[in-house]
Amino acid sequence: MTWKSIVFSVFVLLEACSTSGVPTVTLNDGHHMPGFGFGTWLGFQNDLQTLQTVKDDSVQKAVEAAIDTGYRHIDTAAIYDTEDQVGRAINNKISEGVVKREDLFVTTKLWNDHHARSDVVPALRESLSKLNLEYIDLYLIHWPMAQFKNGSFQDIDYLETWQGMMDAKNLGLTKSIGVSNFNQQMLERIIKESGVKPAVLQIETNLNLQQPLLHQYCKEQQIAIVGYTPFGSVFRSKPDSPPPRADNPTLISIAEKHNKTVAQVVLRYLVDIGVTPIPKTVNKSRVEENFNIFDFELTDSEKTVLRGFDKQYRFIDIPFWKDSPYYPFEKK
Ligand SMILES: NC(=O)c1ccc[n+]([C@@H]2O[C@H](COP(=O)([O-])OP(=O)(O)OC[C@H]3O[C@@H](n4cnc5c(N)ncnc54)[C@H](OP(=O)(O)O)[C@@H]3O)[C@@H](O)[C@H]2O)c1
Ligand SMILES: *[C@@H]1O[C@H](CO)[C@@H](O)[C@H](O)[C@H]1NC(C)=O
Ligand SMILES: *[C@@H]1O[C@H](CO)[C@@H](O)[C@H](O)[C@H]1NC(C)=O
Ligand SMILES: *[C@@H]1O[C@H](CO)[C@@H](O)[C@H](O)[C@H]1NC(C)=O
Repeated sequence: MTWKSIVFSVFVLLEACSTSGVPTVTLNDGHHMPGFGFGTWLGFQNDLQTLQTVKDDSVQKAVEAAIDTGYRHIDTAAIYDTEDQVGRAINNKISEGVVKREDLFVTTKLWNDHHARSDVVPALRESLSKLNLEYIDLYLIHWPMAQFKNGSFQDIDYLETWQGMMDAKNLGLTKSIGVSNFNQQMLERIIKESGVKPAVLQIETNLNLQQPLLHQYCKEQQIAIVGYTPFGSVFRSKPDSPPPRADNPTLISIAEKHNKTVAQVVLRYLVDIGVTPIPKTVNKSRVEENFNIFDFELTDSEKTVLRGFDKQYRFIDIPFWKDSPYYPFEKK
């Protein structure tokens, strides 16, 4: 551990908590991010391959419920097709006086077909127009690989894309910039070649995929980790998903001991390992359930048991992209 990472760790531990109990994460560019957020991707259909299509306003309703509940960090992306609903929810809650714009932390993401440097700012302007916002708090490169609209790989280095992200930040369209689904070597290359550290790395993080080495690297570099698909295979699983499921006796006994649900135990554990989880639900009672995790504490031995479920298993794997020169994951 370097002195910098020790200072950073202590800083993270001591950071001010708001009344909701949500920790505040200080980013390496000086901005602040609520350490718990709300996901707005509708995900796959039951076959776990075909994308859900957006048919109604359930995402807007869910984001409104989330803001009423106390969530202040909302995650969306151009590809989710939910930016318009997220924007309506936010603007409704601002006009109702529930929150001010500066109380919220809004993230959106650049899709793979806008990786040319000159395409980044226009893509963000289009997202801002759908969101009906003047700026966002965090813009992420969604994936390291570039594609044409027809899906073929395009030969654009993500270092070029990163220059476009810096342009977007310089124009004030986003407060912070970061990346998603990048590996350590890719982060090192960005930092070395551009001299600008991503503020955030958003990666899949759940009981089956904990990645302690990547987390340690990010901690040393003061790159905050936002964890997507926090429930992994707990509620939905694939044939090869390792345990646990929601009916796992070990998870249930930990949950019962604290009078909490399995979902709450999982989310609290992720916060405890320094991650900002962004659970998604369109069910109002789960919006509240998932947020209500700051009034109990897991013991060290419970956390050790939960660490034991780490199996380096990806719920969101991307075999169809494995031939891209910028494929970020280990090849099976
Ligand atoms: N950067 C990336 O590449 C990337 C990739 C994937 C996801 N993400 C982001 O991360 C967010 C979260 O990931 P995710 O949506 O893949 O998965 P998730 O949040 O781990 O799980 C969502 C699923 O869990 C269910 N659920 C939520 N809370 C529950 C509870 N308390 N009890 C039982 N079931 C519950 C939801 O169903 P209901 O809605 O019916 O409750 C939904 O089926 C996304 O929405 C998106 O914003 C980013
Ligand atoms: C996809 O589009 C690109 C750029 O227009 C083109 O060069 C390529 O041949 C197309 N690929 C397929 C499979 O159609
Ligand atoms: C257990 O949690 C439920 C739901 O939050 C609550 O209504 C109940 O009062 C709690 N019971 C105890 C014994 O704390
Ligand atoms: C909403 O969530 C609650 C708590 O998990 C569950 O009992 C209920 O069935 C869910 N409703 C729908 C429509 O999925």
